[in-house]
Amino acid sequence: MNLAAYMQEQKQRIDCRLAQLLQPERPQFARLYEAMNYSLLSGGKRIRPILLLATLESLGKDSAPYLDIACALECVHSYSLIHDDLPAMDDDDLRRGKPTNHIVYGEGMAILAGDGLLTYAFELMARQTHIDPEKLARSIQVFAHAAGPAGMVGGQSFDLESEGNIHIGREGLELLHYSKTGIIFEAAITLAAILGDAGDEEKQALDVYGTYMGLTFQITDDILDVVGDEAALGKPVGSDARNQKATYATIFSLEEARQLAQEAADKAIQAIAPLGDRAWFLRELVSYLLVRAQ
Ligand code: IPE
Ligand code: IPE
Ligand code: MG
Ligand code: MG
Ligand code: MG
Repeated sequence: MNLAAYMQEQKQRIDCRLAQLLQPERPQFARLYEAMNYSLLSGGKRIRPILLLATLESLGKDSAPYLDIACALECVHSYSLIHDDLPAMDDDDLRRGKPTNHIVYGEGMAILAGDGLLTYAFELMARQTHIDPEKLARSIQVFAHAAGPAGMVGGQSFDLESEGNIHIGREGLELLHYSKTGIIFEAAITLAAILGDAGDEEKQALDVYGTYMGLTFQITDDILDVVGDEAALGKPVGSDARNQKATYATIFSLEEARQLAQEAADKAIQAIAPLGDRAWFLRELVSYLLVRAQ
């Protein structure tokens, strides 16, 4: 199977399950659920959940029992996008080709939709009682750490504080990108390693892969904010420049940013050499991330 077909197949599994999850129990809460589902079910590449399922499969495991864990990752991702687009943050009005959550539902409801998705993700994970309790607890802890103040939320705070600071440097940018974005990719892979009983060598290889594929992803995201096509991306181009963000494309030249993305991709691919053919998807995913337009 080729990369596009595999991604499409996994995306369908994930989309189908996500659509079943959030149903209001009380009519009074219907609008909140509508707002959560508006963002959660509005498309998106589903790279984080696909990464979890694909890593499990590359370890020779059946991914089906972990579909809800994959969906929990996407719930947290969707929350992070809703809050990232708020006027108090990046102030963007287009996401996944549609008006952003706060444009449709208002800021208050958008904040709550994000809160709801975040909290629900951990309820969903904790509900997976068919998973060995020790592995499940460890997965929840790893993911909470990655998504929380020591990870993504910390990274988002650093992102806000770095606005206007072109002196952040390469080290600062690496920390910024690792914490706001990379750590979630890394967590998707670590969870698969925990749930799929990866050996120490496999864990080590996957860990390094996660770090560098996350960096490849975010450098490309920065480049696309400059040279991307709004219709293909489904989000505004030029948002980073308007907000004076510290990004690879605003601090380095486009050529340098492309070079750094290529270097990160090479390191990711090199890291998983020990996994051999079973990791074909992980390898091809990195190459796709370098050239993606969406
Ligand atoms: C966008 O992530 C937010 C970043 C971390 C840069 P994606 O590019 O994965 O967004 P969707 O889920 O496909 O819309
Ligand atoms: C967002 O980074 C990272 C998170 C949502 C955690 P960006 O602000 O660069 O993402 P886009 O470009 O709006 O998708
Ligand atoms: Mg942002
Ligand atoms: Mg943004
Ligand atoms: Mg961006």
